Amino acid sequence: MATAAIHALPAPLLDVNGIEVIYNHVILVLKGVSLQVPEGGIVALLGANGAGKTTTLKAVSNLLAAERGEVTKGYIEFRGERVDRLNPSELVKRGAIQVMEGRHCFPHLSVEENLLTGAYSRKASRAEIRADLEKVYGFFPRLKQRRTSLAGYTSGGEQQMTAIGRALMARPRMILLDEPSMGLAPQIVEEIFEIVRNLNEAEIERFLFAELIRLVLLRF
Ligand SMILES: Nc1ncnc2c1ncn2[C@@H]1O[C@H](COP(=O)(O)OP(=O)(O)OP(=O)(O)O)[C@@H](O)[C@H]1O
Ligand SMILES: [Mg+2]
Repeated sequence: MATAAIHALPAPLLDVNGIEVIYNHVILVLKGVSLQVPEGGIVALLGANGAGKTTTLKAVSNLLAAERGEVTKGYIEFRGERVDRLNPSELVKRGAIQVMEGRHCFPHLSVEENLLTGAYSRKASRAEIRADLEKVYGFFPRLKQRRTSLAGYTSGGEQQMTAIGRALMARPRMILLDEPSMGLAPQIVEEIFEIVRNLNEAEIERFLFAELIRLVLLRF
């Protein structure tokens, strides 16, 4: 009976199991961190400054090596596959897309050009990309209004929307968002989280994109 119950449970989309992260071979930052993101779930990591939230997300996206960080214990599985030894671009190809802290946009490109860079990593026809762009504008009507503006001249909230929209253009299966609310007015934070919630629900009920989208949120 117990076995049947275990089989009935769907495998989580993301399984972080007892990871330890060390920077510069000596600085132990994470110890025994485990978390799971179920299919269709939104998971929030909450913690004080320096608690290790960003480090956890970078461990999942395999971005630690660039900062002399390393997962030294435990493992990470994405869609049932060990991913902690892959390089970051392989992880992007598998559909795990990170939106870094600080809403990095290309300031000298327009909002629309920024969005288009998100589709760069996948093979898609112009018509498909056009259709995906319209879907992103459907979720973020503000971005449609600002499509020709240089991203560097748009507001903080619009830049965060552009960064999330660019991630969507990659047709992600999971988005990792690092502090999407940082430095934004409460009203804009509400607006962004409402859109994130809608995105998650829409993907499950209406499959707007080819693959389901999952979200891991920091400070949701
Ligand atoms: N590249 C690095 N080299 C050495 N130590 C680092 C490095 N990056 C982060 N740390 C340390 O790891 C700890 C966790 O940092 P991290 O950025 O993951 O925390 P956080 O929870 O995201 O904090 P915040 O809320 O300020 O964003 C901190 O003590 C930080 O000083
Ligand atoms: Mg952080």
